[in-house]
Amino acid sequence: MAFCSMICCGKGVDRKKEKGKKQPTWRIFSLKELHSATNNFNYDNKLGEGGFGSVYWGQLWDGSQIAVKRLKVWSNKAEVEFSVEVEILARVRHKNLLSLRGYCAEGQERLIVYDYMPNLSLLSHLHGHHSSECLLDWTRRMNIAIGSAEGIAYLHHHSTPHIIHRDIKASNVLLDSEFQPQVADFGFAKFIPDGATHVTTRVKGTLGYLAPEYAMLGKASESCDVYSFGILLLELASGKKPLEKVNRTVKRSISEWALPLACEGKFDEMADPKLNGKYVEEELKRIILVALVCADNRPDKRPTMLEVLELLKGESKEKLTELENNELFKTLQTVCDDDGITAAEENSDIIKEEKDLKPAKDSEQEKTEDG
Ligand SMILES: Nc1ncnc2c1ncn2[C@@H]1O[C@H](COP(=O)(O)OP(=O)(O)OP(=O)(O)O)[C@@H](O)[C@H]1O
Ligand SMILES: [Mg+2]
Repeated sequence: MAFCSMICCGKGVDRKKEKGKKQPTWRIFSLKELHSATNNFNYDNKLGEGGFGSVYWGQLWDGSQIAVKRLKVWSNKAEVEFSVEVEILARVRHKNLLSLRGYCAEGQERLIVYDYMPNLSLLSHLHGHHSSECLLDWTRRMNIAIGSAEGIAYLHHHSTPHIIHRDIKASNVLLDSEFQPQVADFGFAKFIPDGATHVTTRVKGTLGYLAPEYAMLGKASESCDVYSFGILLLELASGKKPLEKVNRTVKRSISEWALPLACEGKFDEMADPKLNGKYVEEELKRIILVALVCADNRPDKRPTMLEVLELLKGESKEKLTELENNELFKTLQTVCDDDGITAAEENSDIIKEEKDLKPAKDSEQEKTEDG
């Protein structure tokens, strides 16, 4: 690919005076500078295209590599509003969040500048053109799971203002030179123009990751991010896509595939075959169980990102036992088991919970039909 050869040949100018300097948080770029960095937004520089526009690889005068997101639509909001929004996002700094280097707002153009992530996105390693290289061993996957959870937990609980990501997915988890994850595109919902068409295409594009209440009712909250993160974890552990074709018309979600297997304790069947059996069993089980409670259809049953983080790190034995005994894995067993003697029969609380569930499901459906 022409683009790859450009990176390999690109000689970085290592300026001494830059080295000792504290990196500025962000700055305004001129359109001219970005034109020259990206070879006039050359097609060969294009990294990909998402819901907001195209992303181009570029190199600045000092040799540093950047990724420039050129927004294709911009709402009629005032120019100053764009700057205000971007500056708020630019202030959010965390080792697992892709930080903004700056922006450009000239004429009709709205561009956002990031550091270029040399190992591209998680998507490219799981399903894209890096997938055959099998660069994601288990240690890296565990690191990616915990690191991206840290980034999202920071957005939800520590950043000011608190930020709901709304678009957590494999292409928005970028990997630096050390394969450390950096969550990208947080706060981007702000840049969605009022027009409904754009929103529809976005929803379509990321369908497999959308919490049911968000997909159906458009109700965004932190717990929608938790749901998407659950799907991402399943994808990371299994190498499967969020939605898979069962036949011509039917698609099955990754959680529908994973839940029965988890209930039966068949974790080894769920590991990505590309791992060749090289993984830590306990950790695989932990990731899958955490993922499934995150991807629970009932928002109130999902953990917070802080809880997710604690579980993934395996810090509390008590919490892990609680997780294993989660009703989600027991109730399904009562449905799956053929022999009639079920875990639920030994525990009347679980049967009660199961009964309690029904009205909740019905009312959710009613709401959907109304909406
Ligand atoms: N800083 C970066 N370094 C390397 N690759 C990047 C960078 N930013 C984006 N990309 C890649 O460029 C492509 C386009 O990104 P973009 O964010 O526009 O689309 P997306 O992530 O697929 O969807 P969405 O618009 O919902 O975020 C993606 O494959 C993404 O992983
Ligand atoms: Mg993106």
